[in-house]
Amino acid sequence: MRLENKVAIITGGAQGIGRAYSLRFAQEGAAVAVVDLRVDQAQAVAREIQEAGGRAIALDVDISDEEATLGMAEKVNAEFGGIDVLLNNAAIYYDQDITDQSIEYLRRNFDVNVIGQLLCARAVFPYMKDGGGGSIINISSTAAYPLPIPYVAGENFGTYAYGLTKSSLIYLTKMMARQGGSSKVRVNAIAPGVTMSEATKKVVPEFALDGLRQGAALGTTLEPEDLAGTAVYLASEDSRLMTGQTLVVDAGVWLNG
Ligand SMILES: NC(=O)c1ccc[n+]([C@@H]2O[C@H](COP(=O)([O-])OP(=O)(O)OC[C@H]3O[C@@H](n4cnc5c(N)ncnc54)[C@H](O)[C@@H]3O)[C@@H](O)[C@H]2O)c1
Repeated sequence: MRLENKVAIITGGAQGIGRAYSLRFAQEGAAVAVVDLRVDQAQAVAREIQEAGGRAIALDVDISDEEATLGMAEKVNAEFGGIDVLLNNAAIYYDQDITDQSIEYLRRNFDVNVIGQLLCARAVFPYMKDGGGGSIINISSTAAYPLPIPYVAGENFGTYAYGLTKSSLIYLTKMMARQGGSSKVRVNAIAPGVTMSEATKKVVPEFALDGLRQGAALGTTLEPEDLAGTAVYLASEDSRLMTGQTLVVDAGVWLNG
């Protein structure tokens, strides 16, 4: 087990990829706080972990609310005696409205996808520092990179909201890594490619999925479980001298770099 004795907060852990991260982290020995707005589903994930013999709690937290994120860190520390890992996975994705081109909606995307991740990092940082270090993993997306596929770019500037937030996270990851380093807090990101969560089935049309599979070097899209190993690696001591990096995991659609 690669995460034994570690305490991990996984935001957006109630469904999709966050659920897969939560179950895998628990299998690797971590105590897991499943954080989400969808509290019933988060509780179901925590129960699933407990029934398999693991340690887990579910917390009802809006990550864009600073007070709520401070409370989250306090509760996890009180329950498990420290915080070692923050997996910043919650975002407006399933709940996305790509037809909404208003500036208000763009601001809401930034509030959750960027400022929400920053607030969670700020909330856990003192506990990680006191504990001698930690690992923060920000979930970006290949939507952060200019898209080679016309259907997404299209004529609808509203669709840029999500990609803008996800590209901001790559910058934020580097800045947080610079600032956290002296406290042994490492900060890295994962940029997943298209992953077959319920959210993707709702948001991405089938013809686009076919195009992505054909364009992928490995000829496939991902399943939620396909990302968990990369997150375990970034959470574990195996990556102890890695910080400020964004790992693209997309079956080889984007071959830049
Ligand atoms: N599925 C993909 O193809 C894909 C690709 C690249 C990146 N991602 C990213 O991976 C992550 C998970 O994606 P998913 O497909 O499982 O999406 P999802 O929409 O199913 O899951 C996101 C979770 O975050 C929660 N959430 C949203 N706003 C919140 C808030 N303010 N406070 C607390 N929780 C909140 C939601 O309730 C949901 O459970 C997201 O960051 C997404 O942007 C997904």
